Amino acid sequence: MRTHRAALAALALAVAAGACGASSPQPSSVFTTAHRSVGDAAREFFNIRSTPRQPIPFPHKTHIAKKAVCTDCHESVEKGPIAGIPSVKTCMICHDQIATDRPLIKEVASYAAKGVDIPWQRVYGFTHEAHVRFQHAPHVRANVDCASCHGDLANQTVAERVVDHNMGFCVNCHRQKGASNDCLTCHY
Ligand code: HEC
Ligand code: HEC
Ligand code: HEC
Ligand code: HEC
Ligand code: HEC
Repeated sequence: MRTHRAALAALALAVAAGACGASSPQPSSVFTTAHRSVGDAAREFFNIRSTPRQPIPFPHKTHIAKKAVCTDCHESVEKGPIAGIPSVKTCMICHDQIATDRPLIKEVASYAAKGVDIPWQRVYGFTHEAHVRFQHAPHVRANVDCASCHGDLANQTVAERVVDHNMGFCVNCHRQKGASNDCLTCHY
């Protein structure tokens, strides 16, 4: 534990100084979603929220304009605690045929051909130290729309952190909507 922390601390300093490739995590050999790089972990350790640099600038706006809906890609948002980030297999459902000649789509296809997922960097999320428990499903059930917590993704190109998920943000709405504000509703 001690060595692990020390290693992370050293790495975090390097990341903060911009001295190492924080945005080049090792791709895993299997399809998984919501990858986190070591750089992410290091930033999290120091609670540094840097602007994520995505491996491919995924344009939300373009896809929503083509009538894709949030749940096409963030499939588990209605069911479980997490919304999920789509696997590259989901991309290839369309990009096997759509815009195959574009350089960015060739990059997407090459991840798929190698059988690795695109190592997306997380935009939102809490540090472990914050001990916050969040769940999407109760909000979706209560008709709280995505935009109240994530801004207008339909007009964003690369997803950006436009809403600050601080405690005041959560408890104000809970007070307004009569949702629980017991500490243990959100903290563990
Ligand atoms: C065609 C697939 C697709 C659709 C449709 C889509 N997204 Fe995404 N979304 C992604 C991908 C891929 C990422 C990861 C890349 C990024 O963060 O820019 C992402 C990232 C996000 C993130 C940041 C997640 C994080 O914390 O890292 C949010 C929030 C989000 N999407 C919300 C939405 C909302 C709201 C909608 C509907 C208005 C939507 N998305 C529609 C594919 C999609
Ligand atoms: C429902 C079908 C669909 C899915 C699923 C989908 N896309 Fe797309 N994507 C499109 C369409 C349609 C366009 C617009 C193509 C055009 O401009 O003619 C597009 C455009 C793009 C572009 C812009 C290409 C350019 O340079 O103009 C990128 C990048 C992209 N998609 C990445 C992704 C990624 C990554 C995923 C998986 C997370 C994904 N797409 C999933 C349909 C889809
Ligand atoms: C009440 C606020 C709220 C609403 C409403 C909300 N989100 Fe989130 N979302 C969050 C928070 C907070 C996180 C970070 C959660 C964490 O990391 O524990 C998050 C994370 C995400 C992520 C990153 C992956 C993940 O699951 O952690 C995606 C994608 C996402 N949301 C999409 C959506 C979509 C799509 C909708 C609408 C159907 C939506 N969200 C509605 C607050 C919200
Ligand atoms: C825009 C309004 C709004 C915001 C912002 C919001 N919530 Fe909620 N939250 C609700 C509503 C409405 C419910 C559903 C209450 C119910 O089902 O009775 C809920 C339910 C919950 C639940 C489930 C409670 C239970 O009793 O099962 C948790 C956990 C939660 N919210 C955490 C959070 C956290 C953490 C944040 C901030 C990141 C947040 N919420 C932000 C409106 C909001
Ligand atoms: C509706 C959800 C919610 C409820 C209820 C809630 N918190 Fe929080 N709390 C949060 C979120 C979100 C954060 C910010 C986490 C982050 O990003 O670091 C936070 C942060 C904190 C922090 C860290 C300091 C700060 O302000 O960022 C403390 C301490 C804390 N909460 C204590 C409490 C106590 C004590 C209660 C009960 C009286 C409580 N919280 C109830 C969501 C909640």
